[in-house]
Amino acid sequence: IPTYETLLVETRGPVTLITLNRPQALNALNSQILADLIAALGAYDADPGQGCAVLTGSEKAFAAGADIKEMMTLSFADVFGGDFFSGYDRVTATRKPIIAAVAGYALGGGCELAMMCDFILAADNAKFGQPEIKLGVTPGMGGSQRLTRAVGKAKAMEMCLTGRMMDAVEAERSGLVSRIVPVSELVDEAVKTATTIAGMGPLAVLANKEMVNAAFETGLKQGISFERRLFHGLFGTADQTEGMAAFSEKRPAKWTGA
Ligand code: CAA
Repeated sequence: IPTYETLLVETRGPVTLITLNRPQALNALNSQILADLIAALGAYDADPGQGCAVLTGSEKAFAAGADIKEMMTLSFADVFGGDFFSGYDRVTATRKPIIAAVAGYALGGGCELAMMCDFILAADNAKFGQPEIKLGVTPGMGGSQRLTRAVGKAKAMEMCLTGRMMDAVEAERSGLVSRIVPVSELVDEAVKTATTIAGMGPLAVLANKEMVNAAFETGLKQGISFERRLFHGLFGTADQTEGMAAFSEKRPAKWTGA
């Protein structure tokens, strides 16, 4: 595994654990973190031995937002001309799953990065927010759209307009996170969940991720038809034959990804 300036990357069996590592800035997302993430996620997606990734930060901060100090002097021409933040499209383009394991602050771009992952496991000390309005701007990495789809208009609008944070309990109640775990167990629990996913048939993993995302990104009719066609397609795979045979023979399935 290559080393990165702002990330710690390790593999735990079939799971790639990526830890944001700019503790002096509460993991504020600067251009180096973005470059490192693009490289690490590309390597993960391309490695057939890796079936699921976990993206985490520190116990104090998943990420406290885009790096304000790097961004403060940029002009409209800089950000529009350079399509600022479009590099994060690499996160959502990753075909294999990414679990965000969030402890501490996930603010602004940090909350948005967590929401770009496939689901969020929250530590009991997690805090989510879109405080950009306090800086005279708005979310810029998808937060206004993904937060609204996740928690509904009332909470998303209040959070974007006031910058108030949501704690882990409110985030779970609102559907922003899948589960809450004690902060000391967060990474182990995320790796355990990722190991479960990595143990599934790899084609079915890709198909399930794509179709749940279709629910998020398209209308109901289009989403249901997309689901049905992908489901049909899996009947052309050896893993479908094997998975159903294994069930009826009461034995574990042997996946081949074929
Ligand atoms: N960018 C740059 N540096 C940041 C940062 C950020 N988003 N967040 C924290 N830091 C830095 C601080 O400047 C500080 O550095 P120094 O020691 O050099 O002063 C260091 O990290 C530690 O932070 P604090 O001393 O502020 O720590 P705290 O515990 O007192 O407060 C906090 C924690 C409430 C998260 C506070 O740091 C904070 O409010 N951070 C900014 C949050 C924010 O506004 N995020 C949105 C950014 S804009 C954005 O993300 C745009 C978008 O749509 C993508």
